[in-house]
Amino acid sequence: MKKTFILTALLALGAMTAEAQTYLNPNAPLEERVKDALSRMTTHEKIKLLHAQSKFTSAGVPRLGIRQLNMDDGPHGVREELEWNTWNAARWTNDSIVAFPSLTCLASTWNRDLSQAYGNAVSEEFAFRGKDIMLGPGVNIQRTPLNGRAFEYMGEDPFLAGEMVVPYIRGAQANGVACCLKHFVLNDQETDRFAVNVNVSDRAMREIYLRPFQKAVEQAHVYTIMGSYNMWKGVHCCHNDELLNGILKKEWGWDGALVSDWGGTTNTMEAALGGLDIEMGTYTDGKVRESAFGYDDYYLGNPFEQLITEGKVPMSVLDEKASRVLRTIFRTSMNPKKVIGSQCSEAHYEVCRQIGEEGIVLLKNEKNILPLNPMKNAKYHNILVVGENATRSLTKGGGSSELKTLRDDTPLDALKRCYETMISYAPGYYSGRAMYDRVDRIDSAKQAQLKAEALEAAKSSDLIIFIGGLNKNTRQDCENGDRESYDLPYGQNELIAELAKIQKNIIVVTFGGNPYAMPWLKDVAGLVHCWYLGSESGAALANVLTGVVNPSGKLPVTFAAKYEDYPYVQYGAEAYPGVKKQVYYKEDIFVGYRHFATKNVKPLFPFGFGLSYTTFAYGKPTAVTSGENIIVETTVTNTGKVAGKEIVQVYMTAPQSDVPRSAKELKGFAKTKVLDPGESETLRISIPKNELAYYDETGHQWKVTAGTYTLNVGANVNDIKGKVSVNIN
Ligand code: GLC
Repeated sequence: MKKTFILTALLALGAMTAEAQTYLNPNAPLEERVKDALSRMTTHEKIKLLHAQSKFTSAGVPRLGIRQLNMDDGPHGVREELEWNTWNAARWTNDSIVAFPSLTCLASTWNRDLSQAYGNAVSEEFAFRGKDIMLGPGVNIQRTPLNGRAFEYMGEDPFLAGEMVVPYIRGAQANGVACCLKHFVLNDQETDRFAVNVNVSDRAMREIYLRPFQKAVEQAHVYTIMGSYNMWKGVHCCHNDELLNGILKKEWGWDGALVSDWGGTTNTMEAALGGLDIEMGTYTDGKVRESAFGYDDYYLGNPFEQLITEGKVPMSVLDEKASRVLRTIFRTSMNPKKVIGSQCSEAHYEVCRQIGEEGIVLLKNEKNILPLNPMKNAKYHNILVVGENATRSLTKGGGSSELKTLRDDTPLDALKRCYETMISYAPGYYSGRAMYDRVDRIDSAKQAQLKAEALEAAKSSDLIIFIGGLNKNTRQDCENGDRESYDLPYGQNELIAELAKIQKNIIVVTFGGNPYAMPWLKDVAGLVHCWYLGSESGAALANVLTGVVNPSGKLPVTFAAKYEDYPYVQYGAEAYPGVKKQVYYKEDIFVGYRHFATKNVKPLFPFGFGLSYTTFAYGKPTAVTSGENIIVETTVTNTGKVAGKEIVQVYMTAPQSDVPRSAKELKGFAKTKVLDPGESETLRISIPKNELAYYDETGHQWKVTAGTYTLNVGANVNDIKGKVSVNIN
């Protein structure tokens, strides 16, 4: 009897305690946990939630058993562990991870399922490393091919970027790891990134630059967003009231926590009232200089607390911020469904390789020089590989997205596995610079010698595979600086041209996050662009070159024949990189193919372009409206000799509207399954009617013009296979 009584009493007490401590009850509704926790916190404890306590963590509430938030870079994998309060590597021996392909490579797959798989796999590595927030993905728009960080983003088109970022975020956050979508917003260049003020029309802001972020908020419910360093309307985006409170939190109804970029917070009152929730990295100027300060000195630390205690800022402002941080904590570090995760599993390498294989774009394949069949009737016996990117690790460098990998399979290693003794190698050029060095250290005599050696070796080859492009050096594809030229660096253009004179069987393979000029294009037989492929670079590339995998990637950016063809160039320095830290997006909505297609400028390779080892035929498209959607159907048939996948794109041509419209706007796409020769698949592409809208600046609203819309179904923006019209009243 007595025992039962005691047991019952204990259970009741337990229940009371649990009930009393709702915030600790994992099954309690999220908002109740938030409210309960907030009600137990002191003002100072609320303040501590709002800023860093180390380089990559923000505080919880130790007294209440509320966990801190562990953050880390970056979009392509978990950065190596740094010391608690410095930018030095902590030199752990168990933090090597899988480097996944760059997000521009992911965008080039046009494969939403692969994007979800990417988000799932990379967040498992973040979880295993004990991280709650991964500082990525990024969806800034590639308006200039010189942007040093374009490789971290998803191309020039807001629809493709939005469609591809949503599954990545869903895949990641399902594991209880928050994405931190960045950089919100208009961080579309690295030149003057900490101070440049972006002048852009409301329409371009809404239709181009905000659009992918809006989709991620509305469709993927991204948990955190990173404010960008630059300004909009003269106010830093990390605490810009109109942008963060007006658009993001009020208009879009976003309930997450806005995290500053590291060092992006510049004053207390704006930080307090401008929508910032977690201040990170203050007093660093891009991670170079520190001042002697305590984290409580942060703008949202003591200075903000003083404003609250003096009643200059209402407690409701603090409670709102603290609630958003608590919500993030309960969604991640105190989320019972957060996975343990895993690190460097074969499953992760498989996803990494698949994304690489589907992101590689085949741009030229004259006389079907590709695929190379290493074993069957090998036509080539002396294959010369030339170029530094055949051996260089491209997972190092690039800035905050750099990674410490366990496996870094290089193209040369992989090609040797395929062709064994038939392969020989000559560097041909070298890049010289250390990762973050600001000056060239190229010894021209050494450069000339490498070139001479490669040209000599070419004479006895019967095939050349040139592997070059950009790299992660400063002023290449690297944070905190833009490229200085649209050309390939280190004398590659001259080297390729001279190699092609010696051996016409030459295949060029380039790595890089941006388009570039190709003066030698007519002289080479094959051309493949790889973006950055991560840990499985070699295997993914070799599988495509040998035909184990039929390439299906398509460009998420326009490759212009010459730099001057990019739309903003005609407007001079004001349009890029800006004058006196003011940049004007004078091309307005006509970014990328919107310019080329509307002004009939012929690109070298158009947006959405990519070849295959097979060919596809498209049936006549049909379109029906069903409810709020337009359903476009088309049948694709593999008319070639090898199996492959095709990406079908739908571009809208709007009727005459009150405002100028782009001749074509991507509004739908789908990728077939692997089609065997002769096999067909009918694709259904659903286009929500509200995707046809333009942003009306006078009424500050989206408007769909009544009239007839043409839906162009094609293999790329300039290769339209069929059209169908729909009437919208
Ligand atoms: C950097 C980058 C940002 C990164 C952060 C932390 O300056 O702009 O993308 O996540 O600092 O390293």
